[in-house]
Amino acid sequence: MHILIINGPNLNLLGTREPEIYGSATLRDLESDWVRHAQDRGSSIDTFQSNHEGAIIDAIHGARGVADGIVINPGAYTHTSRAIPDAIAGVGIPTVEVHLSDIMNREPWRAISHVAEVSLTTIHGRGATGYLNAIDALVAHTIAPATLHHYGEEDHQVADVRVPEGIEAPPVAVLIHGGYWRSYWKRDTLDLMAAALVKEGMATVNLEYAVGGDSYPAAIEDVEAALAWVTSHGDELGLDGSDIRLVGHSAGGYVALKVAERSADLTRVVAIAPVTDIDAVPGQFGEGDPASAFLGGTEAERPDDWSSARLVGTPQSPVVIVHGSEDTDVPDAHARWYVERAEDAVHFEDIEGSEHFAPIDPTTEAGAIVVGHITA
Ligand code: DQA
Repeated sequence: MHILIINGPNLNLLGTREPEIYGSATLRDLESDWVRHAQDRGSSIDTFQSNHEGAIIDAIHGARGVADGIVINPGAYTHTSRAIPDAIAGVGIPTVEVHLSDIMNREPWRAISHVAEVSLTTIHGRGATGYLNAIDALVAHTIAPATLHHYGEEDHQVADVRVPEGIEAPPVAVLIHGGYWRSYWKRDTLDLMAAALVKEGMATVNLEYAVGGDSYPAAIEDVEAALAWVTSHGDELGLDGSDIRLVGHSAGGYVALKVAERSADLTRVVAIAPVTDIDAVPGQFGEGDPASAFLGGTEAERPDDWSSARLVGTPQSPVVIVHGSEDTDVPDAHARWYVERAEDAVHFEDIEGSEHFAPIDPTTEAGAIVVGHITA
């Protein structure tokens, strides 16, 4: 596919502009990463940067019949322009909005985006990686577009559902994304995996769930509510709601294992590079303590939550754990910790040489192994 990447005002200053917020890479540096990444995905890109609203609108119009997707960081126009989202809606090209910084947790006016209303998804707070994730979201959309459903009444209780054509009642993979329960990591990180599973004849339900501070036990309850929704809406969605493979990556792998310890109804749980030993998390990842944030306090402050949140190694449904030996985000000691406790209840596959994200990228060897475990 061909993608146009548009950057708005002041982004030409990247590298020197408030590097503590926007990073030290220049726009040129980022562009070479996009070219390489798009090539890896069998895609190509054009780039455009302007400090002028009208020029950005002209570039969007010019993408008609040329680009199959747009990635846009509208800079401060995000928060003020109505004409840019109108242009995106007008040309009807699938668009993903990106921001380097976490606009939801800065000045309140930055949390308002008019462009979000016309975007497939909005990615923010992940620095330069966000652009690569945006390219992936567009590629996945081209392979297998999703429909958005609500599995609960709260705004975040949504899921992207994909169902393969021509297969009656296919099994379904319910996907739980990772990101250390931080609010700026979302389900788009599993879009490519979802699209690959659809190509293999599976339906997928890619979940959003409670993340951010103090989101335990809501995160677990959300996934359980989503599973109940999939089971009761199977016919309507065109999938077999009694054949569910629950798949979680990283922090989502922890959630999947927690659900496996409470439910015997799942065909299989596939935990990819999961966090398992929550006591090991404080101090393990440099800055911040994502486990205490997730649990609403340190172990000393919230002993009951910590105690109920610990995994014990007694899954009620069959479990497969896949972990890369070179994972520096979540060391494979986490997988081994769980395997030691669960022993024969778990099938463990240590992928030699793999890091943290390769197993959720279906184009890698590690990703193909994961697809095999989910579809088996
Ligand atoms: C930005 C966030 C905007 O609020 C700001 O005005 C920018 C950059 C970002 O990438 O984080 O110019 O879009």
